[in-house]
Amino acid sequence: MTVPELKIQDLHVSVEGKSIVKGFDLDIKGGEIHALMGPNGTGKSTVASAIMGHPKYEVTAGSVSLDGENLLDMAVDERARAGMFLAMQYPSEVSGVTNADFLRTAINGRRGEGNEIPLMKFIKTLDKKMDLLEMDQAFAERYVNEGFSGGEKKRNEILQLMMLEPKFAILDEIDSGLDIDALKWVAKGVNSMRSENFGCLIITHYQRLLNYIKPDKVHVMMNGHIVKTGGPELALRLEEEGYDGMKAELGIKDDEPVEA
Ligand SMILES: Nc1ncnc2c1ncn2[C@@H]1O[C@H](COP(=O)(O)OP(=O)(O)OP(=O)(O)O)[C@@H](O)[C@H]1O
Ligand SMILES: [Mg+2]
Repeated sequence: MTVPELKIQDLHVSVEGKSIVKGFDLDIKGGEIHALMGPNGTGKSTVASAIMGHPKYEVTAGSVSLDGENLLDMAVDERARAGMFLAMQYPSEVSGVTNADFLRTAINGRRGEGNEIPLMKFIKTLDKKMDLLEMDQAFAERYVNEGFSGGEKKRNEILQLMMLEPKFAILDEIDSGLDIDALKWVAKGVNSMRSENFGCLIITHYQRLLNYIKPDKVHVMMNGHIVKTGGPELALRLEEEGYDGMKAELGIKDDEPVEA
């Protein structure tokens, strides 16, 4: 089996007619974990939404491919079936659908008709993964994210990730709102996914998470595209200096006007 590859080339995305992402390039292979950092409002979540196919985010130029197949031509569910996963910055609540039903339906959606996961196997796997994340079993029967605390929602996103076993995951601020223990459980969950068949993009503001999930590369995004790429030391540097030092070094002005 060949190692999966997610390739984003010269991506441009507009939201409500405003150009937000401008020339974003990124290549992630199975086995790699990349971190994406950058100031608020620079377009990190917009990249994630565009890759998954959110209808509000219009790709005006560039390409996104998964194992050589054009993702941008696919409907959202086809992208998920192809192996893409997004843990959202603000997970939605789905009233009336239990976590267990949601997960089983999603897994079977990926596996396809005639290849459904046997119920016992599903239950065993769910138990095991909830244990690893130190989630109470009661969460299986609660409606998806309904009434979950901020941190519980984030942990539930990781449970989905572990159950669905995608080829590529984008984790958008999975660490925001997590207490120290939950941060470790989430990291444990992500690290348990590490394999040649899995690649991951972690969007984060804080170096702290990267102490627990060692990224192969760290990218800094400003004004709609990646302006610098390095190793974990780049995240440490940002933590110390903030973005000003890097802006000065790269000659980036603060309020670059956003083109229409
Ligand atoms: N649905 C939308 N409608 C209007 N503007 C939007 C929409 N989505 C994004 N934007 C705008 O696009 C810009 C980039 O937003 P985005 O959420 O991608 O930033 P971000 O880098 O993820 O920031 P943060 O670190 O705060 O999460 C912002 O100015 C935002 O207001
Ligand atoms: Mg964001």
